[in-house]
Amino acid sequence: MKVLNFGSLNLDYVYAVDHFVQPGETLSSLSQKVVPGGKGLNQSVALARAGAETYHAGCLGVGGGMLRDLLAENGVDVTYLLPVDELQGNAVIQVNPSGENCILLFGGSNQCIAPSQVEETLAAFGEGDYLVLQNEINDLPFLVDRAFARGMKIVLNPSPFNEKLRAVDFGKLSWLLVNEVEAAQLSGSEEPENAWAVIHERYPAVSLLLTLGKAGSRAWRVTPDGVEEAIQPAFPVKAVDTTAAGDTYTGYFIGALMEGRPLPECMRRASKASSIGVTRPGAAPSIPTRAEVDAALAE
Ligand code: RIB
Repeated sequence: MKVLNFGSLNLDYVYAVDHFVQPGETLSSLSQKVVPGGKGLNQSVALARAGAETYHAGCLGVGGGMLRDLLAENGVDVTYLLPVDELQGNAVIQVNPSGENCILLFGGSNQCIAPSQVEETLAAFGEGDYLVLQNEINDLPFLVDRAFARGMKIVLNPSPFNEKLRAVDFGKLSWLLVNEVEAAQLSGSEEPENAWAVIHERYPAVSLLLTLGKAGSRAWRVTPDGVEEAIQPAFPVKAVDTTAAGDTYTGYFIGALMEGRPLPECMRRASKASSIGVTRPGAAPSIPTRAEVDAALAE
């Protein structure tokens, strides 16, 4: 069993600030760094570090060579990453002293995926393989339809949440991975229980993983015998940068699912990995290795 992540790659321009810039304000930052990121790339790195056989497909733009190199160095197969003549996707990220961030995206190369690339890539995957998607690339509806037809297990992290998602057939997903904001946007309800009820009624075959920041995470997995529910408290840590916390959780969660681990254990591993990641700066560079996660869980 293997996992294909058809996803974004960004150059993250990260600025440390003492507060997020306000409308009309000009603010001097405290430091600046350029690091590898993009929800797709971060999740592929997390999947590979978790031990999954990982393939990353997408478009590599002008100036993005370091992103392909980083994936390859982490053992991610980049055969299906195609060069395009468009500026590399990027993100401008402000990080405040509490480790919170705000992110401005430029799609660039991430919006250049052609239907032919989708068809040619998916031809190498089939029944039982996982497909991981986020909402930073174009052509999601087509990807979901074609992967579903091939019997793949589709995991969608609908982030950033926007109108374009309306064209996606959520009923074809195996897992929906959302934070509390996305759950509310999707269901119209702030309460996790209600969000699950609404989503389950609309898409009865879809399992839901809901991350709640410091309040931990909850999951509802649809099985042939009914719905299995699990709750995982967050591991308390002092966060320096929460960028990619959700991506780290996603990669480790899916990696553990692929190993056939019980649901509570998948969540515990993912939560521990994410808690380590937020104690370090940056997106992809902050993601812990499997050995680090195993050691921290054994403490
Ligand atoms: O989830 C974090 C990521 O969101 C950053 O790396 C940034 O590139 C944006 O895609």
